[in-house]
Amino acid sequence: MDRPIGVIDSGVGGLTVLHELKRQLPKERFIYLGDTLRCPYGSKSDQEVQQYTWEMVHYLIQFDIKVLVVACNTATALVLDQLKENLSIPVIGVIEPGARAAIKSTETNHVAIIGTENTVNSQAYDLALRNIKPNINTTSVSCPEFVPLIESGRFVESDAIDVVERSLASIKEVYDIDTLILGCTHYPIIQPLIEQVVGDQMTVLSSAIETGSEVSTVLTFYNLHQSQTVDETSLEPVILTTGSLHVFERIKEEIFQLKSASLKQISLI
Ligand code: SIN
Repeated sequence: MDRPIGVIDSGVGGLTVLHELKRQLPKERFIYLGDTLRCPYGSKSDQEVQQYTWEMVHYLIQFDIKVLVVACNTATALVLDQLKENLSIPVIGVIEPGARAAIKSTETNHVAIIGTENTVNSQAYDLALRNIKPNINTTSVSCPEFVPLIESGRFVESDAIDVVERSLASIKEVYDIDTLILGCTHYPIIQPLIEQVVGDQMTVLSSAIETGSEVSTVLTFYNLHQSQTVDETSLEPVILTTGSLHVFERIKEEIFQLKSASLKQISLI
C-alpha cells in the first residue's frame, strides 16, 4: 500500500493538519497541495470554491492517492459532500473532527467558532456540533482579516495583535464560552496570539489532532496502512503550491520543522 495520502488546502494553513498527520502516521507518504494563488477561499462564491477544490483534487488524483484529506474548512463546508459522492477513495474533512474535539472539551456547553465568512455562513460547525449534542450553545464569528494576515506573513508584526483583539471582541463579551474552535486551518499559525487575547478561561482548539485520529481510523478500516518498510527519505512530504514559494518556505520550516520536505510551484490554470 505504498500510495500517498493527498492533502488539499487553499494555502499554507493546511500545513497544520499535515504536521499532525505526519506525527500520528509516521510511516505514511503525503502529498500536499495549497492553492495559495487563489487564497483566500473564505470570501469566494460557492461555485468558485467548488471549481478550485475539484481542480486540486484532479491534480492529486494523478499521484494515485489512497485517501483525500480536505484540510481547508471552507472547502470542507462547501464541497465535502460532493467529493464523497463522486470519488472512489475515502475523503475526510476537518469540520466533524473539530466538532468532536469541542464536545469533549466544553464544560459550560457553550462553544465559539471562528472561521472564514463562507464557513461561518454555512453553519457547518453548528450543525456538526448539534448532530452530536442537540442542546449545545454555539456562537460563530467570521474573522476575514486573519487569512490574508497569515498568507502575507505579516502575523509576526506588532499590529497583528490589534487585528486579533478587534476580531475576537464579541466572543470575549460572552461570559460562559469555555471552548473556541479554530474553524480555519490557517488559524493555528496565530494560535499564541489568539490565546493571549481570549485568556486562560477558554480552551482554544483546532481540528488537526482529531483529524489525524480519523485518518488513522479510516486507514485501519479500509486496510490502507503503509505495510512495507520504506526508506526514510522517500517519506518526506511533497508540498506543492500554486503561489509564491517564499511564505511557504518560511512557514514550513519555522513553524512546522518540515525542513526536508520538497517544495514545488505548480499551475492549476
Ligand atoms: C480560506 O481560504 O479562506 C481559509 C481556509 C479555511 O477555511 O481553512
